[in-house]
Amino acid sequence: MQRIILDTDTAGDDTIAIMMAMRAKGARLEGITINCGNIDFDQEVENALYTIEVAGESGKVPVYPGARHPLLKEWRTVEDIHGTDGMGNSMFPRARQRPERKHAVDAIIDAINESPGEITLVEIAPMTNVALALRKDPGIAKKVKEFYFMGGANQYLGNVTPAAEFNIWVDPDAASIVLNSGMPITMVGWEIVMRHGLIGVPELEEIERMKTKESEFYLAVNRQVRKFMEIERGIDGTSCPDSITMAIVLNPEVATETRDRFVEVDAGDGISRGVTWVDELGALKKKPNVRVVYQASQQAFRRMLYEMLRGGRV
Ligand code: RIB
Ligand code: CA
Repeated sequence: MQRIILDTDTAGDDTIAIMMAMRAKGARLEGITINCGNIDFDQEVENALYTIEVAGESGKVPVYPGARHPLLKEWRTVEDIHGTDGMGNSMFPRARQRPERKHAVDAIIDAINESPGEITLVEIAPMTNVALALRKDPGIAKKVKEFYFMGGANQYLGNVTPAAEFNIWVDPDAASIVLNSGMPITMVGWEIVMRHGLIGVPELEEIERMKTKESEFYLAVNRQVRKFMEIERGIDGTSCPDSITMAIVLNPEVATETRDRFVEVDAGDGISRGVTWVDELGALKKKPNVRVVYQASQQAFRRMLYEMLRGGRV
């Protein structure tokens, strides 16, 4: 049984990743930690609590508020992509469950120390919480079972700047600490999303026909993303960065090709802020620190997504 701690900046597709983890046959979502990122921090906390309620698990998955600001950098939130509430402007009601008093950083440290070698840490947000946890207790790097992150771009365009993907751009200093921590790391970059993790009109029509609480929730929280993709990217559909990452966590067969590479982040303040350099040629002569996903199965991902949206388990 995979034991998952999920760090999220809960908006749009983050919520679908949370639901997939809660509906996993072979995994247990043991905690959600909140990181600054997509939208207003307190709204991110509420979105996580509400998602747990929609999944029918109210009170069963603790939510720990974490870093409200990146380590050093200023950043911008992206309500233009996810809606002012991060949920497609659905303005859902407040969930019954309330957040924990324990800080996210302590929740991550305690979970890993209490169960060395057993916790899979999944990152679908900027990495401030994880970096702080590593700075507070460096020993967790050798005790975590696996660290998966959605972020960066492997020899591919960024999405928030020409160079950088949002999660890394928000807190490149944190990302640099994490990538150099010695944890066993798997990277799912933005290129995987754009090549294998898009849901187009035929798929959205399939989801519309499902008429389940999960499918209706999916369409609602992705409402603004669909508008953004059409206007800004010329693509009629939604992108699924966090849910394809969770699919890879839950079912390693979704990642059809991976390669071990040395990866470094530019934590500077210039145009290349947040770029993830994957040393494809080994030119830097440094030991690989990341297992990079190079190919993913769109079919396997969609199968898992549809199963969850139909109310099933994945
Ligand atoms: O670049 C996409 C990532 O940034 C996703 O995780 C999205 O939720 C935002 O956090
Ligand atoms: Ca996210």
